[in-house]
Amino acid sequence: MLNAPNPIDGKCVLITGATSGIGLEAALALARMGARIVITGRNPARIDAALASLRERAGVNAGALCADFASLAAVRKLAADFKARHGRLDVLINNAGSVNATRTLTEDGFETTFAVNHLAPFLLTNLLLDRLVRSAPARVVNVASVAHTRGDMDFDDPGFKHGYRILRAYSRSKLANVLFTRALATRLADKGVTVNVLHPGTIATGIWAHGAPAGWKRALFTAVITPMRLTMLSAERGAQTIVYAATSPDLEGKTGLYLEKNRPKPPAPLALDDALTERLWRESARLVQLNEQRH
Ligand SMILES: NC(=O)c1ccc[n+]([C@@H]2O[C@H](COP(=O)([O-])OP(=O)(O)OC[C@H]3O[C@@H](n4cnc5c(N)ncnc54)[C@H](OP(=O)(O)O)[C@@H]3O)[C@@H](O)[C@H]2O)c1
Repeated sequence: MLNAPNPIDGKCVLITGATSGIGLEAALALARMGARIVITGRNPARIDAALASLRERAGVNAGALCADFASLAAVRKLAADFKARHGRLDVLINNAGSVNATRTLTEDGFETTFAVNHLAPFLLTNLLLDRLVRSAPARVVNVASVAHTRGDMDFDDPGFKHGYRILRAYSRSKLANVLFTRALATRLADKGVTVNVLHPGTIATGIWAHGAPAGWKRALFTAVITPMRLTMLSAERGAQTIVYAATSPDLEGKTGLYLEKNRPKPPAPLALDDALTERLWRESARLVQLNEQRH
């Protein structure tokens, strides 16, 4: 029997936030499948450790770029550095994400969760569109969360000047990931670039520690999270839906989908609101000062 062709062998895959957790495991799995991997992180020492892990566990020398997504200038530089080194981009995986126990602002003045989880990948993807279109058939994979179902959008106060709560901010940013996916899928419909978004499962990674509040609430948080971790899936399992979205022939030509457990599923009703989808695109383009070009 002939082996099925390997759809990712030799392809260039850029995966953000691959210094730990789900991103690192997805990078490992894709490297083992023969992809040429470029990872991003914000901390040089953690990037070096991830590269060493890729060498030891997958036997590959991956590329790496450093950028803190809390800076739009750093995101612009990341895109420019990638383009200077790589002529093609077959799969872009927007995985980097964070939760923030307290409300902080980025150097650009945006609430950090919204900036890191939504504005940064929005800008990065737009800046890399020419590479993706040139490499078609290509894929964009956005890592959202089932938490998007609890999200809302308020264009008068996207960064929670009023009523910041960790899960409200996180859920809004993840709803933005789903809305962004649908808006981009529409724009790239005839360009040979598919755009899908997924929930990786509830996974035992370091992200939960970042959500720990200060003071007496920290002990309460730890008491709740510690037993919960026992029921969470491994980062390796979390990477599976990313690998599926990035490589599966089932998804050839399929775009604008929300995936859970390797299956398309309807996202939250709000995520299917076309007016909201387009408004978020326009607002995001304004906030990151995107010069939109035709590809
Ligand atoms: N874990 C879950 O249960 C779960 C569920 C649903 C969705 N997700 C999503 O899955 C994705 C990966 O999360 P994870 O659970 O694997 O968490 P993780 O282990 O904390 O990994 C997050 C990655 O994002 C990077 N990152 C965080 N803030 C950044 C910033 N400001 N600039 C650049 N990179 C930054 C981290 O870099 P550092 O190493 O420097 O921190 C790390 O590489 C996220 O988008 C998350 O929302 C996770």
